[in-house]
Amino acid sequence: MPELSLNILDMAENSFSAGAVSIEIIIDENLSQDLLSITVKDDGKGMDRSTIQKVTAPFYSGKKGKSWGLGIPFLKQTADLCNGNLTISSTPGSGTVITMSAQLSHIDRPPLGALSDTIVTLAAGHSDKDISLIIRRDEKFYEFKTQVIRKELEGVRLSDPDILKFIETDIKQGIKNMELVP
Ligand SMILES: Nc1ncnc2c1ncn2[C@@H]1O[C@H](COP(=O)(O)OP(=O)(O)O)[C@@H](O)[C@H]1O
Ligand SMILES: [Mg+2]
Repeated sequence: MPELSLNILDMAENSFSAGAVSIEIIIDENLSQDLLSITVKDDGKGMDRSTIQKVTAPFYSGKKGKSWGLGIPFLKQTADLCNGNLTISSTPGSGTVITMSAQLSHIDRPPLGALSDTIVTLAAGHSDKDISLIIRRDEKFYEFKTQVIRKELEGVRLSDPDILKFIETDIKQGIKNMELVP
């Protein structure tokens, strides 16, 4: 996958498939340590230890009727290639935290890509769920929460085109203000 935002989309879709009602996406750019880390936290059904071991192997999928899965193996491959790693910690019944890290300046590190598109896609497809995006870049901080929008615009659906446009604009502006490394 050429863009990390697509990996994030896949991780978040995994979370929703696991029954999550609330997910948190945390992107941390640490320039002094030359480190990028991406975390997706959810409150889904979790994985037991043997599943965690299996999911990083290519072609494992826990989904019924689907005999392959490449999302997590690709993510691990990208992390390994870029001097980073992939960690999965999960508690069956309460949730999962998956973190991938990479050397920010590594020549093979894929760009973050269209992060706003990823969040818009998630909000459109899971408009009843809580989605948080947190971006840190050294001391700068940006946060977007569907919970806040839902509270402010009572009765409005997240999947409303005007709301999706608003989300897209807000995230694009937030990212621009932080001058993220592309
Ligand atoms: N956040 C998560 N919570 C619970 N199970 C997960 C989570 N992420 C991944 N999994 C498990 O790992 C499997 C492999 O994921 P992935 O590599 O993305 O392939 P796919 O989504 O195509 O099945 C999933 O089918 C699921 O069983
Ligand atoms: Mg997947």
